[in-house]
Amino acid sequence: MSTKDDVRTVQPAGMLSGTVDLPADKSIAHRTALLSALADGTSRIVNYPASEDPQSTLSCLRQLGVRVEQEDEALRVEGGRLAAPGAPLDCGNSGTTMRLLAGILSGQPFPSELTGDASLSARPMGRVMAPLSEMGARISASDGRAPLHIAPTDALHGIVYRLPVASAQVKSAVLLAGLFAEGETTVIEPVATRDHTERMLGLSSVVLDGERHITVEGGMRIAPRLWTVPRDFSAAAFFMVAGSIVESGLLRLPGTGLNPTRTALLDVLRAMGADIRIENERTTGGEPIGDLVVRSAALSGVQVSGPVIANMIDELPVLALAAACADGVSEIRGAGELRHKETDRIAAVADGLRALGARVTEHEDGWTIQGGGRLTGGRVDAFGDHRIAMTMGVAGLVASGPVHVHGASVAAVSFPTFWEDLARISG
Ligand code: S3P
Repeated sequence: MSTKDDVRTVQPAGMLSGTVDLPADKSIAHRTALLSALADGTSRIVNYPASEDPQSTLSCLRQLGVRVEQEDEALRVEGGRLAAPGAPLDCGNSGTTMRLLAGILSGQPFPSELTGDASLSARPMGRVMAPLSEMGARISASDGRAPLHIAPTDALHGIVYRLPVASAQVKSAVLLAGLFAEGETTVIEPVATRDHTERMLGLSSVVLDGERHITVEGGMRIAPRLWTVPRDFSAAAFFMVAGSIVESGLLRLPGTGLNPTRTALLDVLRAMGADIRIENERTTGGEPIGDLVVRSAALSGVQVSGPVIANMIDELPVLALAAACADGVSEIRGAGELRHKETDRIAAVADGLRALGARVTEHEDGWTIQGGGRLTGGRVDAFGDHRIAMTMGVAGLVASGPVHVHGASVAAVSFPTFWEDLARISG
């Protein structure tokens, strides 16, 4: 592999072998930092990731007067009271930082402004503004896009909110605002999404008519804790696919998070014929983890749509690559949310895979992918999106010639060592 002007070139790999120490889970990390900042006392977070998105959350918290320091192996966070920031809070590329902080800041007695990079400033924020406003928040933005301006409110009040989009960020923003509201706040989830917030807050939930109702009590106290962040299943996804599609190899991904609201990709890849085993299942910090062992396997096409999509929303770009390398036709539908991610991931994946010779039909809500042919080398763009960069990097391992990924350094948003790890396992 070579780097020149933010281009990474990935050469075809004959085999893959080795162990990848995946970065810690981005979703869980944001939440450990935010809950630690709200807790009454000092929390410690073991294995907090160095990746850019979770670091954006830390820098916003520091601007809110929270003391955050690295202390030996753990991050030390002194929680208890947020203070008015002296400048806009820069969430960088991180939608989770912006949407979850919007929930927390809506309940504070001081004004704040949340900003982000060009990608984040193009993403829809109306989805959090609507329920937060219903709770009494004074939150405004031009055209429902960042910057978000939050004015102090007299009081938030609890609501019952049925999620119109399957979004863990919206759910979490409402639940976090609910901590500062009078009375109870209930979020109803027609489609289950990742449950880290409610798990970590220990919230009660019931399933009624197939929909999950999650309730938080206003004024609930959060105790300081020792958190341990598991390794990121969404980062493992790239190596689960790489290890499956490269002709020969054995990859180990120790300590990978296996929260059941996150692992649909594992089931789908197995249904396609993948040989991925879980060893040494255990629990860390309230989250299930295990060591994944991935062996190459012949994959066949798959049909995916419906509620399972929310459980694998971040893994769909790399699933599309697996489909392009599988035998037969795959259909991935019901994934219109991908158009609102760090880039329009439906268009970006179609563009990248086609540039490498794959036959992909783009739909408003997904793709039809004709597998079977070998990918060719070529030039592809990351479109400023970490998961597109990494998907295209993995594609390079199985293409017939080198794949040049432009804008490759964006992988550091969630996986700073991705390119080095990819090079190491492919020898
Ligand atoms: C996340 C939720 C998902 C996911 C994102 C992280 C979270 O976003 O795509 O990477 O940590 O809550 P949506 O809530 O927009 O689906």
